[in-house]
Amino acid sequence: MPKVAIYPGSFDPVTYGHIDIMQRGLDVFDSIIVAVLQNPAKTSLFSVAERMAFLKESLKDLANISVDTFNGLLIDYVAEKEADAILRGMRAVSDFEYEFQMALMNRRLNRDVQTVFLMTGLRWIFTSSSIIKEAAQFGGNVHGMVPPMVEAALKDKFAKPSG
Ligand code: PNS
Repeated sequence: MPKVAIYPGSFDPVTYGHIDIMQRGLDVFDSIIVAVLQNPAKTSLFSVAERMAFLKESLKDLANISVDTFNGLLIDYVAEKEADAILRGMRAVSDFEYEFQMALMNRRLNRDVQTVFLMTGLRWIFTSSSIIKEAAQFGGNVHGMVPPMVEAALKDKFAKPSG
């Protein structure tokens, strides 16, 4: 049976760090569904529609990967998709506590679903959507850290009003 993983996240916005995990994930799984959380409680820079558009454009050359959105419990979405595992990236030790807590809660909610962690490439170890947004907000150059469409959207979002 083909093995399917769900790669969930906020992806606000997608970074090359996320894409690195997806590429590594495709070495392990037959297909991956990238699932963008719809969370009205969390303030995001980009709408779900924008985030999905960035993902679709960035992943258009990768086979066996699709982009979707979900709300509510991740574990329910995994069951709905009949997926085999949850895929998450691990950067530094600082990620560990949050990821560990989430994986154990998900396991408690459904013992049949495993969480698989993959190590990000060394060059992405310090990148996150949040740090990239912060740099971009103050005019920092984030070239090479996010796909070109995202780089342009960040510039646009933080462009100083003229006049
Ligand atoms: O990119 P993020 O923000 O680190 O992703 C977090 C995400 C979307 C994986 C997590 O918040 C999530 O799964 N939310 C859905 C609600 C849920 O199932 N929470 C975990 C168990 S209570």
